[in-house]
Parts: sequence; structure tokens; C-alpha cells
Amino acid sequence: MTMGEVVLAAKITHVPSIWLSINPGKHHGIRKPAEVGLAEVGRRARERGADTFVVADSHWMNSMSFHINGKARHQGSYASHELPHFIQDLEYDYPGNQELARLIGEEINAGGQKSLVHDVKDLGLEYATLVPMHFMNRDGDPLEVVPVGCNIYSSIDENRRVGEAIARAVLRSDRKVAFLASGSLSHQFPPNEISSQYLDKISNPINEQADRLVLDQWTTGRIPEFLAALPAYNERFTGEAAMADTGMLFGILGWDKYTGHGEQLCDYFPSSGTGQVIVDFPIPDGLKA
Ligand SMILES: [Fe+2]
Repeated sequence: MTMGEVVLAAKITHVPSIWLSINPGKHHGIRKPAEVGLAEVGRRARERGADTFVVADSHWMNSMSFHINGKARHQGSYASHELPHFIQDLEYDYPGNQELARLIGEEINAGGQKSLVHDVKDLGLEYATLVPMHFMNRDGDPLEVVPVGCNIYSSIDENRRVGEAIARAVLRSDRKVAFLASGSLSHQFPPNEISSQYLDKISNPINEQADRLVLDQWTTGRIPEFLAALPAYNERFTGEAAMADTGMLFGILGWDKYTGHGEQLCDYFPSSGTGQVIVDFPIPDGLKA
């Protein structure tokens, strides 16, 4: 059995306006750069030999413990309960990976945290997995998909440990994994009465300023500087699902030992008040077999 490895780790956007962008109507084409960026992540994953996507899904929001969807096959038709007018009739059919899900659960537990791995008929995928997968995982044989939930009451430090557990699990597996941190940068929604004016606007300029500082830190390799401020960034800029996906991402990459720098794959863009981007982070040697 060959050793598993992490071949790709990226922070990605999943906003519903990307789904609107590919469907007929007045929003057609508005998120073209994100469409292209997501497809590029998928292309890179295949180019690097990935056979499995592990997705930290900020819309699979858990309130207790850490959860992994370990179904052998993910199949269904999806409508968003949050925004049914934005996403509906999204049909999907992807293979899962029960063994990798089991190993991730085992490693989270071994690290002293509580995980639960599920094979539940009605546990479907959420849109922070489905929207990116639509662009990354349609052509050719589909890659396997293992969704990891985001605990909305968890700390950055807990998610660092979950990320480290995912990295250990991948090394024990025979899978070549592309890890996706599917979540926002700043995530403040505007007040409901004016929210429709914010489709292409940040809710407050200070949020975009903070997001752009973070992007600068990521793309110039100032990761320890970023991580020192991450808990406060999450608190003050309304982190989506506690920025659990970001905590896991850097946990996988080695946290403040990480010496790489991210490559931005689409321009920063505001969407319904929130800050969005796609950034690919080179994999350090320790994560390879
Ligand atoms: Fe989201």
C-alpha cells in the first residue's frame, strides 16, 4: 500500500452568487473569475494526482463535537434552506471514502478531541462542498469526497488540532488528498432591510481592509504574523463558522512552521457583504510520502 499524501491545500470561496452566475437570469456571469479559479483548483488537484477531496464545509455547521461524513456515496438533489432562491435543483453524485473518514475520526480522537464519523442515509452534502465540487469535480471520473463539518462554537486552536489530525490521517491512508478550506474571509452580512444592495459590496470598508491585510500576509508568507491575529480576526470580522476551515487549513500546513506563501487564483471580491477569495498554498515536504 502506498503512503497517502496531501497534494493540495487551498482556501476557496463557495458563495451562492457563483451558482447564480452559471444559471440563466440577471446575475448570469457575475462571478466568472471565481468560476475560473475554482476550476483551476480542480485542474491542479488532478494534475497533482489527487484522488480525494477533503472539504472543511462551513455550511455543515455543527454545535457539538467534530463530524465527518463517511458515506460510501454522496448522491442527491439539493436546495439551500438558507437561500432557497439562490440554490435549488443542484443534483450531485460523488463517491465518498469510508476508510479515510474513519482514519480522520480516529486521529481526531487520538488527539484528545471528540469526533463522529457518519454513514447516515439522509446526511446530504451542503453547499460549501457542492458549489466548489460543481466546478472542480465534474469532468472525467469523479474524485472521492469526504466532507468535514465546522463546529461553530469551536476555537481556532481546536481547529488547528483537527487540521493536524487530518494530516496524520492522510499519511496513514493510501489517498492523495486535495484539502479545501471552503469558507469566507470576513463574513459580516448587512442588515436585512438593505442586504439586496450589497450583492457586490463589502458590509463595511474596514472588513475589506482587514481581508486585504490577511491576503498580503498569506501571499508574502507572513503566516506566523497572520496566525497570531487569527482568533481576533475571527471574532472581530464575524468569521464564517468560527473560521474553522482556516484553522484546519493551517493546522494541516504545519501552523507557524509553515514557510510557504499562497498563490491567489482569483481577485478578492465582496459578495453579500462578505469577503471572498481563492488561494492555493504549496504543500510542505513533511506532508508527502
Ligand atoms: Fe458561506
